[in-house]
Amino acid sequence: MAATASHAARFSLGKAAPSPHPCAGVAIRFQIIPYPDKVFSARTGWPLHPNRLHQLAAARGARTLIDLTVANPTQCGFEYPRAQLLAALGHAAALRYQPQPLGLESARAAVSAYYAERNASPVPTNRLLLTASTSEAYAHLFRLLCDPGDAVLMPAPSYPLFEMLATMSDVRLLACPMLYDRGWQLDREALEHAAGSEPKLRALLLVHPNNPAGCYLKPGEWQWLQELAARCGWALVLDEVFFDYPLPPHAAVPLDWESAPALTFVLNGLSKIAALPQMKLGWVSVHGPGNLRQPALARLEILNDLFLSADAPIQHAAATFLQTRHGVQAQIRARLAANLAALDAALLACPALERLQVEGGWNVILRLPRVRTDDAWAELVLERAGVLTHPGHFYSLPLESHLVISLLPPLETFQAGIEALVAAAAGALR
Ligand SMILES: Cc1ncc(COP(=O)(O)O)c(C=O)c1O
Repeated sequence: MAATASHAARFSLGKAAPSPHPCAGVAIRFQIIPYPDKVFSARTGWPLHPNRLHQLAAARGARTLIDLTVANPTQCGFEYPRAQLLAALGHAAALRYQPQPLGLESARAAVSAYYAERNASPVPTNRLLLTASTSEAYAHLFRLLCDPGDAVLMPAPSYPLFEMLATMSDVRLLACPMLYDRGWQLDREALEHAAGSEPKLRALLLVHPNNPAGCYLKPGEWQWLQELAARCGWALVLDEVFFDYPLPPHAAVPLDWESAPALTFVLNGLSKIAALPQMKLGWVSVHGPGNLRQPALARLEILNDLFLSADAPIQHAAATFLQTRHGVQAQIRARLAANLAALDAALLACPALERLQVEGGWNVILRLPRVRTDDAWAELVLERAGVLTHPGHFYSLPLESHLVISLLPPLETFQAGIEALVAAAAGALR
């Protein structure tokens, strides 16, 4: 990496000349070692400057911007049971340090009860591991399943953070595009092809419902994936963070993991279930044949013990946080449905824009004419309408022109944003 002039001046980069030791009068002379070109790992070599879209958004300033990318439910006008949430954080037992590598039994029991209330496949407490977040659970799983250079495969589009999470564990993330024809489905042929051509593949990452495509896996797909994974020796990672947010007329699709033939990890956390991303608690439950499940749990327990990052106050509050989910989830589901209806109404003004089918989750995808790239469309609606959206490639959508928008903003904000977006797009197509 080239050093900048100011860095060079400050740190004498590349200067090999002898230099006096800072302690005056000491006869020793030290050689300044040239500052190595490569101090940092390649895996942290991210571009550290904001991309063009975010530079343009910053230049506009927040007052003239309608942000249709918001993902933070605590800033979208939902009412939380404040007193109950705050009281739950004051549990006296939190003053005791009880290091439990799997997480506190009482918190795991609360998570297990969540699955029982959902009528999901059972999740016994001894198959559960608590982490600080779902993202941390992914990091543990990558370290559990992969050696450097191994690969994991995700149906695309998918959650943008996977790329960075995988890279941080020296894991290659491969994408297998899903098929879209008035609804999404897995490309089984492409997945079979991956099975034959990628010997270092260790796991499939499945988001249920997908973010941002919003499709639930179907039971037939799940069964097929289980058989494929068992045959190929892959693990299945099932991320259900948006499970509780189906969009009518669709219903959430429960999947059976009790009799899974493949090693299966099911992930979730408070961030979406209770719409509390600031209360750091996620989890992973382990399923599949006992000869794989037991060592997986034992190894994960050691990985978790290295960090013990789920803290005591949050674990003691977990049962209350999970109980309060019903009220906030109902508000969020009503918001998602109202915004989706507003979107469909606004799109009537410009038939060239198509809203892709969505069954659940907090995001929706718009398909725009391919006269511009998705980056160019995102810049156009930002510049002409003051509306911030995400270009589809951010979510590994194929090279068509897609914009991803969040259904979380308050209805009036969303409506104003989407109408301005549609008007700007229609104007550009005229
Ligand atoms: C599909 C998916 N998985 C995981 C996460 C991260 O969840 P957490 O906040 O628990 O790390 C997100 C966040 O938006 C997500 O969209």
